[in-house]
Amino acid sequence: MRTSTVLLDRDFTIGHTDKRLFGGFIEHLGRCVYGGIYEPGHPTADAKGFRQDVMDLVREIGPTIMRYPGGNFVSGYNWEDGVGPVEDRPARLDYAWFSTEPNTFGTNEFIDWCKMSGIEPMLAVNLGTRGPQDAGYFVEYCNHPGGTYYSDLRKKHGYEEPHGIKFWCLGNEMDGPWQTCAKTADEYGRIAHEAAKIMRWVDGSIELAACGSSGRKMATFGAWEDTVLDHTFDHVEWISMHTYLNNYASDTPAFLASPDVMDAFIEEVVAIADSVAARRRSKKRIMLSFDEWNVWYRTRRPREARIKPGWPVAPPILEEIYNMQDALAFGGAAISLLNHADRVRSACIAQLVNVIAPIMTETGGPAWRQTIFWPFADFTNHGHGEVLRARVTSDTYDTYYFDPAGMDDEVRTKVDNVPYLKLAAVARDGGLTLFLLNRDLAEPMLVRIDARSF
Ligand code: AHR
Repeated sequence: MRTSTVLLDRDFTIGHTDKRLFGGFIEHLGRCVYGGIYEPGHPTADAKGFRQDVMDLVREIGPTIMRYPGGNFVSGYNWEDGVGPVEDRPARLDYAWFSTEPNTFGTNEFIDWCKMSGIEPMLAVNLGTRGPQDAGYFVEYCNHPGGTYYSDLRKKHGYEEPHGIKFWCLGNEMDGPWQTCAKTADEYGRIAHEAAKIMRWVDGSIELAACGSSGRKMATFGAWEDTVLDHTFDHVEWISMHTYLNNYASDTPAFLASPDVMDAFIEEVVAIADSVAARRRSKKRIMLSFDEWNVWYRTRRPREARIKPGWPVAPPILEEIYNMQDALAFGGAAISLLNHADRVRSACIAQLVNVIAPIMTETGGPAWRQTIFWPFADFTNHGHGEVLRARVTSDTYDTYYFDPAGMDDEVRTKVDNVPYLKLAAVARDGGLTLFLLNRDLAEPMLVRIDARSF
């Protein structure tokens, strides 16, 4: 048996968790919306078409904030298509997932669903095919009290009171060649800056997240964050991050080490954001919105391989089936988020239902929990409070992790000194919760804990 030791003290803290740290993500992708959260005619659907069996599981898993409507989808989305009388809404080709988007579910349905689930909505604007003006109109539609074209349109659609959406994403993965109307860092930085100005003129109380890199292995990672923040520093509160852990190599020690690569990624983005601040002699600290994270590899395809003849509505794509190893790697990733609670103030598991998701459904049939549901529910239920700066002493191992760059190539990353024990400690109400991952595949572990001041 291996022995590890943990030393922690009630007074040595990393930071208090933000309640947005364990959020989720709903994209118009596959069966996440249609056949997932929304299925009129399903035996459990309410009058609005919201599946109550899914909602019960969502309440059980307890995400605090929900990102919508994408993802890659948002970069070709006209938000106007999804509001107003359903019979007037157009069906459109969705360039991101080669599907037909019927638009029978849109922003107002999403906000109704969030209200019923007790979740804060987070919206993304399209900075791919569209631009600052449309983003401003979208904020006006959602948040302006009334007396203008778009705010009165919302009222006409049955929503007298403003939705009061606080958290807005300035596009999605704009560095990725797969993105509809991808941009260089300068192109994106400029448009994000101008969109942010207009959106905040419309509602001064909103918070804005600029797109960071789509992943640490993007060739432009680092330079992208630096340039984008140079353009947007004064206009945003957040920079986004995305990571999908994988076990392409069928190498479980490497897979379980991959959350440590996420730790490095977070620390690198913090360093870049703070260097942009330093160049300006600014005390402002940009926070990290880790708005896509999960395990995803079995159903990952390059863009060309996604093309399906006939542009189907809600095809069953990205329906990853998770096993126990995935749940362990996933739990390790959540430990990484907690251990950076001072800067990662918001995060969204991608995604919520059917699409790389903790909850699965059969269209017309039942809903059930995947393996990753359980660690996520543990983190949402117990991972809030003061995260402690624990000192972990544990044997270590070295490994190589295959990390996809963009969606196509694979790159080997050396990960060394991986402690067999990965841990986060959270204090709340005089109590202490420990999240522990034993990465030794052969041996159980004895953990000796010196918990001072408890
Ligand atoms: O979550 C699935 C996809 O992964 C999202 O649409 C995109 O942002 C990312 O590449």
